[in-house]
Amino acid sequence: MSRSEEDAGPGGPRWALVLGASSGTGAAIAEAVAQQPGLDVFGVHRGRYVDSGERMEHAVREAGRRAVPWQADASTPEAAEAGVEALRKVAGPRSVKLFVHSIAGASVGHFLSEGEDRLHARRIRRTFDTMAHSFVYWAQALVAADMLAPEARLLGLQNVLDGTHLSNTGLVSASKAALEMYVQHLAMELGPLGHRVNLLKFGTVMTPALKHVYSPEALARLEAAHARMNPAGRMCTVEEVARFVSVLAGEDAAWFNGATIDFSGGMTLKLLDLVLNA
Ligand SMILES: NC(=O)c1ccc[n+]([C@@H]2O[C@H](COP(=O)([O-])OP(=O)(O)OC[C@H]3O[C@@H](n4cnc5c(N)ncnc54)[C@H](OP(=O)(O)O)[C@@H]3O)[C@@H](O)[C@H]2O)c1
Repeated sequence: MSRSEEDAGPGGPRWALVLGASSGTGAAIAEAVAQQPGLDVFGVHRGRYVDSGERMEHAVREAGRRAVPWQADASTPEAAEAGVEALRKVAGPRSVKLFVHSIAGASVGHFLSEGEDRLHARRIRRTFDTMAHSFVYWAQALVAADMLAPEARLLGLQNVLDGTHLSNTGLVSASKAALEMYVQHLAMELGPLGHRVNLLKFGTVMTPALKHVYSPEALARLEAAHARMNPAGRMCTVEEVARFVSVLAGEDAAWFNGATIDFSGGMTLKLLDLVLNA
């Protein structure tokens, strides 16, 4: 009997497939769902975050669950098929309780710039493949390989830039808008089969990517700005987002479908006040 069969409770083996599991939000989600509701983790990434990837695997195993890493660029349909095939070999059919799309790979810049930051066609295609289309490719591969467990949850991640724009993030927002429509249409297609597809929207959280991009002074300014913006007076943490994903994976969240769930903590509510009255 394989380990996944041994582990199978009355509901069978239960896995989380996490794209982007080695860093930031994806790593925190992998750790949280290993704890609650107690899922084994198949974590996909390209291997650039060695330390945090190992920390995540260690934490999942500490929680008594399996952690299986799979290294690839997850943005193509071929990668989705190969990844799901690899997962099927370790997990068996109908075993994926939770699929989370937490890869980040978007170009920032301006559509009409004549400079380095021009959002040219290759950047547009690459951003949409990574941030949006890959959600569909993995959903298609999971269904084709009969990998979704009963009442599976599929989750995309959204930021707050859908209503409040930063001038260099037009391509990020456009790809997230596509992701939101993919989520709604997949919810309609998968709903009758008992599955749920949602988008979780949250504000800025401190991730290695942010720490890599900003200097310590800029990070301190960023934290101070979020303390002014967020009604709670501080930044949200990846752990808070991850714990809420555990909730979304549970029975009580079963009626959410096709929803954009706002976990932004009111981050953009005070912007007019800050501009007009600060
Ligand atoms: N951070 C925030 O403040 C925030 C707020 C709201 C929403 N979100 C959303 O949360 C998601 C994750 O963001 P994050 O900030 O947590 O990102 P992050 O810390 O940069 O982590 C991204 C993860 O995705 C992997 N990855 C990136 N491109 C990949 C690819 N093509 N194929 C396979 N793996 C890939 C990375 O590992 P490798 O590079 O080694 O592949 C890493 O594990 C994104 O969808 C983002 O829009 C983030």
